[in-house]
Formats: sequence, C-alpha cells, structure tokens
Amino acid sequence: MLIKKSKVAVVGCGLVGSSTAFSLVTQGVCDEILMIDINEERALGEVMDLRDTIKYLDRNVKVKAGTYSDCSDVDIIVITAGAPPKAGQTRLDTLGASAKIAKSIVEPVMASGFDGIFVVVSNPVDMVAYFVYKLSGLPKSQVIGTGTSLDTSRLQNFIAEMVNVDPRSVYAYSMGEHGDSQMVPWSTVTIAGKPFYDIIQDNKEIVGDVDLDDIVLKTAREGWEIYNRKGTTYYGIASACVGIIKAVLYDENKIIPVSTLLEGEYGQQDIYAGVPCILNRTGVADVLEIHMTEEELQRFRYSADLLHEYTDKIMEYL
Ligand code: 2OP
Repeated sequence: MLIKKSKVAVVGCGLVGSSTAFSLVTQGVCDEILMIDINEERALGEVMDLRDTIKYLDRNVKVKAGTYSDCSDVDIIVITAGAPPKAGQTRLDTLGASAKIAKSIVEPVMASGFDGIFVVVSNPVDMVAYFVYKLSGLPKSQVIGTGTSLDTSRLQNFIAEMVNVDPRSVYAYSMGEHGDSQMVPWSTVTIAGKPFYDIIQDNKEIVGDVDLDDIVLKTAREGWEIYNRKGTTYYGIASACVGIIKAVLYDENKIIPVSTLLEGEYGQQDIYAGVPCILNRTGVADVLEIHMTEEELQRFRYSADLLHEYTDKIMEYL
C-alpha cells in the first residue's frame, strides 16, 4: 500500500505566491510543492531558491516547477495570480483582469482531472472565489477564498495592542467583504472569553474612549497602509493562506474566517463572503453562524449587498 504524498500547487510566483511557498517549506506543511507561473523561468528560479533552504530545515519538502496539466493528483491549489491594483485603485477595480487570469488557470487545471481544493487569494478575493467556484464546478466546500482571514489577524493585532495582550488571546472576526465594507460583530468579541465591552469598561484608564468604527476602518485600510510603504503586502496574506492549508491538510476542524458560498446564512444567498468556517480535509465543512445584533446584521447586509453587485459583474466574464 503506497502512502499518498500531500501536494500543494502555488499558481503565481510573485511575492504572495513565493512567500506562501516559503512558508509551506519552512513549516514543513506538505510533502511536495509545485510552483506554476506563466513565466516558467520565474517558477524555476523560485524552485531553485526554495530548494536551497532544505539543508537547514526539519523536513525534506520536494519543490518542483510544473504546469496546470501536473495538477491531477494535487491536494490543494493556491491561486495567487491576479491583477495588482494601481495607485488610487481599490481591489474591486481589478475585477475584470483578475477574472480573465482566473479563467486561464481554472480551465486547464480542471482539464487535468483536478478534484482537490482551491484556495483563492487573488483579489477581489470574494468575487474571484465565487468565479472559481462557478467555473470549476467543484462543490462549494472545495473552493475557499482567503476572505477576511487576513483582516481578522489585523483586527486582533489592533485590539491586542490596546490592552497589551497576545493577539492570539483575542477572539474577534472581521466579516463580509475583504475590503472597505467589512464589519466586526463587536458583541461577540472577547479577550480570552471576557467580552470586549467589559474589557473597555474595566480599563477606561488604559483604553480611554474607544471608537469601534475607527478600529474597523484601520483594519480595512491596513493593507493600503502597508502598500503605501512597501508597494504591496505578502507576509500576512501568505501566513493566512498557510493557516488555511494546514487546517485542511491536517484535518483540524479549525475555525477560520474565510470566504465561502452563503446559502442562507446571515440571510444571504449566492455570494462568497468572509465568515467563520470550520475547515478540515473536506475544505469548508460548515459555516459557524454567530448571533449578531440587528445593527451588526445591518452592517453585514451592507457588505453583502456590495458583494452581490460585484459578483454580478464578474459573472459577465464566465
Ligand atoms: C491585503 O489586504 C493583499 O488584499 C491583501 O493585504
């Protein structure tokens, strides 16, 4: 009986793709990594550079360059290829270009016989994930968008800094669009189980007057704050992506806010949106439907309405 090897393909060998691959290798997450890019020399260069790390790591991860036709036995395909926004643009402005790139990837991948899980990173990620879901014909569980997993990391950092605790002791979600319309159900936020509202009340001398909307705005704008300083972002999104991959490959039943197809949750249908999901070897095993206040639901609806509008737009490229 041959033991099956775990294989992850990274499509797009730019900074996000190469950071994702580097994180997979240094953490020893899978047995094999396939680097795919339209610029084959670039893919080969990434492979050669990644191979040079093995000597000093704990695991001999095999790294190869490949093409879409090599994906038939791949477990997870990460799609990072997309159109980066130009100065002054939003992620939504790259919708058409990213749709065309996604189509040029998914069609040949599906022709290879791929029946694994897509992790979609390319922006605008909620719409591109929906587009990949429709194009691939795979079950919704097998098409995951990184969604608000990165925003949630940023949100937890901001909250942790306010009261000087480890961000991993903060339990908070950013939800909805991976973009300006995202929202935070503050009534569900806790620090190690203590409601955040009580934390604010009990620590006035430390936190002062807290503007929750300002925290949400800072979270939504953090990507641009980084973009304006270093031209793009890649470590945060790569780590979020690898966290999702580990939850799937290790069958963890871990709850991560990713972009998934809503089928009635939060009163929404037929959009991909960032919501807390249970991730395991099947992909998105279930949506954790948290109880929001009416005001929070209104904010989620506002984000969902925007996602509906742009999902209709991307479907014009199908
Ligand atoms: C970000 O927010 C790349 O959209 C990603 O950093």
